[in-house]
Amino acid sequence: MKNIVVLVSGGGTNLQAILDEQNKGNIVGGKVSCVVSSNPTAYALQRAKDNNINTRVLPRKDFSNSTDYSKALLDILNEERADLVVLAGFMTILDEVLTNAYPYKIINVHPALIPSFCGEGYYGLKVHQAVLDYGVKVSGATIHFVNEKADAGAIIMQGVVDVKNDDTPQTLQRRIMENVEWKLLPKAISLFCQDKITIKDGKAYIVNN
Ligand code: GAR
Repeated sequence: MKNIVVLVSGGGTNLQAILDEQNKGNIVGGKVSCVVSSNPTAYALQRAKDNNINTRVLPRKDFSNSTDYSKALLDILNEERADLVVLAGFMTILDEVLTNAYPYKIINVHPALIPSFCGEGYYGLKVHQAVLDYGVKVSGATIHFVNEKADAGAIIMQGVVDVKNDDTPQTLQRRIMENVEWKLLPKAISLFCQDKITIKDGKAYIVNN
């Protein structure tokens, strides 16, 4: 059974989707053992507590740089004996001291179709605002492994939604969450926990059943 640690910063609807699938028995071969928040007031912490999951808080504002923060977080992940780390709305970029310690063992959900609208500065509603400003006609979300570059690790899964003429960042975010993020993130976690994701030449492939 793989030990899953989920990192959060905010509302935690992706965490909720993971816990709902776990409670239905759909996370095969893994279990969420701990939720770590970079924000002491994140509602995601309450969602974890409601599901009797251990929580820890490591405030980003207590650290002056990303390297020191990543080192402290690495200590926590090692203490928790994480086999898989899931960034579910985690708004802090991780330094390579951490990403190198967990190669192909950290999964992120990004709310756009990588390689568009991603990288430093693209997070949360800013991503959807940029999509609307550009005028693209489809957007979506990407589940990918995390490496030392922001939003640049191997892509595991992507899903697409239409962008509508009257969308606001909020309506587009909601459509992408409901139709893509909340479905694909638990699925990717379950596949990982069953060793059904392989890496070849730096790219990720889902093993056919
Ligand atoms: C989600 O849309 C997630 O994809 C995005 O923030 C939202 C968090 O919502 N993540 C990023 O932008 C990371 N770069 P949640 O806290 O309700 O899961």
